[in-house]
Amino acid sequence: MDGDRFPPSLRKVITDVLKQQPEKKIMCGIVGGVSNTNVIPILIDGLERLEYRGYDSAGVAAVTPEGISCLRRLGKIEVLREALEENPMSALAGIVHTRWATHGKPSEKNAHPHVSQAAIAVVHNGIIENHVALRAVLREKAYEFSSDTDTEVIAHLVNEQWKGGGSLLSAVQNAVQELEGAYSIAVISKNDPENIVAVRMKSPLVIGIGKNGNFVASDVSALISITNQFVYLEDGDVADIYQAHFVVYDKTGKKVERPIKVSDLSPEDVSRGGFLHFMQKEIHEQPDAVSRVLDGRVKDGKVLIEEAFGNKAAKIFARTEAVQIIACGTSHYSSLVARYWMEMESLADIPCHVDVASEWRYRNPRLHSRTLYVFISQSGETADTLACLNMVKEGKPEAHTITICNVPESSMTREAELTFLTKAGAEIGVASTKAFTTQLAALMLLTLALGRTRGMTAKKEAEVIVSLLTVPEKLREALLLDGELRLLAPGFGKKEHALYLGRGSEYPIALEGSLKMKEISYIHAEGYPAGELKHGPLALVNEEMPVIAVAPNDVLVEKLQSNLKEVRARNGQLFIFASPDVKIDLDEGTTVIALPRVDELVAPIVYVVPLQLLAYHVAVARGNNVDQPRNLAKSVTVE
Ligand code: F6R
Repeated sequence: MDGDRFPPSLRKVITDVLKQQPEKKIMCGIVGGVSNTNVIPILIDGLERLEYRGYDSAGVAAVTPEGISCLRRLGKIEVLREALEENPMSALAGIVHTRWATHGKPSEKNAHPHVSQAAIAVVHNGIIENHVALRAVLREKAYEFSSDTDTEVIAHLVNEQWKGGGSLLSAVQNAVQELEGAYSIAVISKNDPENIVAVRMKSPLVIGIGKNGNFVASDVSALISITNQFVYLEDGDVADIYQAHFVVYDKTGKKVERPIKVSDLSPEDVSRGGFLHFMQKEIHEQPDAVSRVLDGRVKDGKVLIEEAFGNKAAKIFARTEAVQIIACGTSHYSSLVARYWMEMESLADIPCHVDVASEWRYRNPRLHSRTLYVFISQSGETADTLACLNMVKEGKPEAHTITICNVPESSMTREAELTFLTKAGAEIGVASTKAFTTQLAALMLLTLALGRTRGMTAKKEAEVIVSLLTVPEKLREALLLDGELRLLAPGFGKKEHALYLGRGSEYPIALEGSLKMKEISYIHAEGYPAGELKHGPLALVNEEMPVIAVAPNDVLVEKLQSNLKEVRARNGQLFIFASPDVKIDLDEGTTVIALPRVDELVAPIVYVVPLQLLAYHVAVARGNNVDQPRNLAKSVTVE
């Protein structure tokens, strides 16, 4: 914000407060709409479909004959529903929200919507970076603040503009000029019972075109039961929404037509379909999901480069001299597996660097025009990964970028030059499962596509494709371990720590297995390359410490065996997930889980599944909320 626009007395305040950190929020959920019937039940249903994002409070505001009605509750949407039963609300236009706070307490006063002087109500997802400065200015104008959030400034700013006369649309358009940061918002006013105004800026928002009205939501899953027609807003777009029509204006205020896209998501995709949890359903969907990655993208022992990666891909791959993969969390672990593949002499034989997005973006990386920058993300919205993608585009426009992503029309698929869609279907469980295995299959196709330009033999390509095509069946076999792993869960569930070991491309699988365990069971679990055991973590091993080892039948297995002996010598309890060909010395402290026999190269795609199942059953045994683990949100759209 330009401090010169404010009176001198305020400039120092502004400079000081700008140094403070704004409240940070991760993936709140927004739904809003205007309908020809009572919109409230539609909005609450939509909000429930966004529950997977994780949240701590929920709220609703609507334009009723009495003016703006607003109800907010700490806790689950269920609590808000109960409050609505006691205080029924009926309106044609309304907005609802789930809030997930990282800074600023989860509380009713901080829950959205935020209302300014009973005239304007706002829901918001994102961060207003200059909210402290704006607060100071608005206080001078006698606005009172009743929350600790950055969002409340938006309500007051819109109100300040709106009080001057004019439409809600122009009030919002003017107000957002003052905002810095990332925000998607939906706004209602007491004088407009059939209108909402919504804005997208660096935080996703779609318009859903329904039979009985028009809606907005943070993502399509919220609205999929009422429509499959969506308009994806661009950054800076302001949408003026009515029951029978809507108009979109771009950031310059010009009326624009954004294309209507038909989503192939179905209401079943966002339901549990007979499973106890979304995560369980998604683990079991992996054979089909991996088949979809390969369908139409390989033929006669070859990767169909154009079909898989787009028509510019072959040229781009031919000039690529190195690969830099950037991702977060589970997507980062799939990249670590890919590094083994990319650098193999018999495959792509290409230098491959892998970094966590939040680290890479702040270490001033040198950008190279002949490096292919690969951004991996289930959601396509992860703020750090997206920021890295934009950094490459701005810093080295001639470099090429590709995203491997599960969500069409996400920010990353729009920003990257090439897109490979993993087609895993909606992943609702916070803990990523099918996104991981589909990313691995995609990364193997990318490895082969790059390999083809770098001397990989046609025979090798064909062999790897044969192995890849066996993966869906091998995944089905791995899922048969479900019952056996469920039996291990109660004992495992009593532990507070666990060590995961792997070697070679199974090392990232150990990391991913330990991440699954910690995020849903809350057991402290660490992944290590097995060879590192005696360099430190062995000190932790005693009879209380379960050690999980992933042991494929490859050249490293003998070395892994000696690592495992070190564990048994300290009375550590060993759980070895091993290929049937691995010979293991059995004793009463060793449990062996026999994995499907599968080609070593693609084994990581299959061997992660039993680790997902183990984490799942342990979390269930501990009575945890599997799909919405504490403190976590599905998609991290702010830094
Ligand atoms: C873990 C998990 C997270 C995500 C990470 C990146 O189970 O889900 O670690 O993998 O937040 O998210 P995406 O892939 O959407 O960029």
